[in-house]
Amino acid sequence: GDVAIGIDLGGTNIKAGLVTGDGAIIHRLSLPTEAQKGPEALMDRLAEIISALQAYARDRAWEIRGVGVGSAGQIDSGKGVVMGATANLPGWAGMRLSERLQSRTGLPVAVDNDANAMAFGEAWVGAGRHWRDFVCVTLGTGVGGCLILGRRPYRGRDGFAGEFGHHVIEGGGIPCNCGRIGCWEQYASVTALMRMARERENADLLATPKGIFNGAREGYGPALDLVDGYARYIAMGLANLIHLFNPQGIVVGGAVTEQGDFLLGRIRQAVAGCLLPVYGEAAEATPIISAELGNDGGVIGAVAGYFI
Ligand code: BGC
Ligand code: NA
Ligand code: ZN
Repeated sequence: GDVAIGIDLGGTNIKAGLVTGDGAIIHRLSLPTEAQKGPEALMDRLAEIISALQAYARDRAWEIRGVGVGSAGQIDSGKGVVMGATANLPGWAGMRLSERLQSRTGLPVAVDNDANAMAFGEAWVGAGRHWRDFVCVTLGTGVGGCLILGRRPYRGRDGFAGEFGHHVIEGGGIPCNCGRIGCWEQYASVTALMRMARERENADLLATPKGIFNGAREGYGPALDLVDGYARYIAMGLANLIHLFNPQGIVVGGAVTEQGDFLLGRIRQAVAGCLLPVYGEAAEATPIISAELGNDGGVIGAVAGYFI
């Protein structure tokens, strides 16, 4: 049958896979990004991954519809060009991703922002499949976002819509990778959680996200405190998004969603306290739920456009 090659290009890892028309990954590959080696080395690595997957599909006589890449940064998906990228992918801005990969692989190549791809995956076969219009956020090294409108990513005029991680929630706050100050990403990313942990006494007990959440679950005060504060920061941004878009719901992705309702419950409660009264009992009015595709959302969503 027909498959497509989905690639999720993150600051730490490149995840890739062959995706079927049902949105399932039937074969996967993953390599470290090693972004510090520069954009040309990264291009080579992407081309290598694609040709390995091409070979795998060829051996099984599967037809490949195309390649989809979700990349951090601001993407002109019409042209397939990375227009802006931060410290996580140095030198990546300006890369003509579609054109370069197309000429190396002979396949059509679609490019989108990584969080848009993840959201598209959740809209296609994940937590948002029953919703038409919703908001998706992903809390990882950075904070990514996407507004799904009519079951598709809303990209805005230039393709830069949905940079929720860089909406400012703290005037005069923490400097962000983007060069500005007080961005939500500096309070709601896993990177931020770890920074807040280091600022505490007994920081050694809070050296990993797992350590923090396990400590909090066991009732260890400083860990519980940290998680509560983190949930409140996440909630502050989500409440802003609810006021802005009045979405059918919010899908939250990223590693911390492993914590399930222990974190989401706190987030929901804090969101309820941040909303205008008319939004009602927020927990009921606007569901806030976990992404369902876990680490696969970006890979699956990067090729959703080939099938729906
Ligand atoms: C970038 C976004 C990206 C997000 C998640 C942010 O810092 O600005 O483009 O979607 O990180 O990777
Ligand atoms: Na986005
Ligand atoms: Zn920023």
